Amino acid sequence: MLPAPVQIFACQNRTCRRDGSSTVLAELQSELARCGLSARVELQATGCLSQCGNGPMLLVVQTATGQQIWYDRVRPEEIPLVVRRHLIEGKPVTDMLYRAKHPKRSFPEWSPLPPPWHTSP
Ligand code: FES
Repeated sequence: MLPAPVQIFACQNRTCRRDGSSTVLAELQSELARCGLSARVELQATGCLSQCGNGPMLLVVQTATGQQIWYDRVRPEEIPLVVRRHLIEGKPVTDMLYRAKHPKRSFPEWSPLPPPWHTSP
């Protein structure tokens, strides 16, 4: 079986949990399912990503290239935007990038996930 083209690591360790990471994870699971992407995005609840105090923290990895995009202080209501703009359109959400990892708010080339996917509510 081929690996999923995208992996998302959602920290569920103590500090991120205190800041609401379990709700972010649940929202991510349901949004990926709603968009038909569950089989193509490997979502992992992880331990500490060593960025405590900046969570909820998400790390999105493009499997083929190893490119990494970090998002900090993610709110559940931002998840649909991340899924649509980053995963489907291939444009990471600049305003949400974690400045410690993306100091110029820039990001590497990112390949959008090809259809099929669903974006209607
Ligand atoms: S607890 Fe989430 S980065 Fe450390």
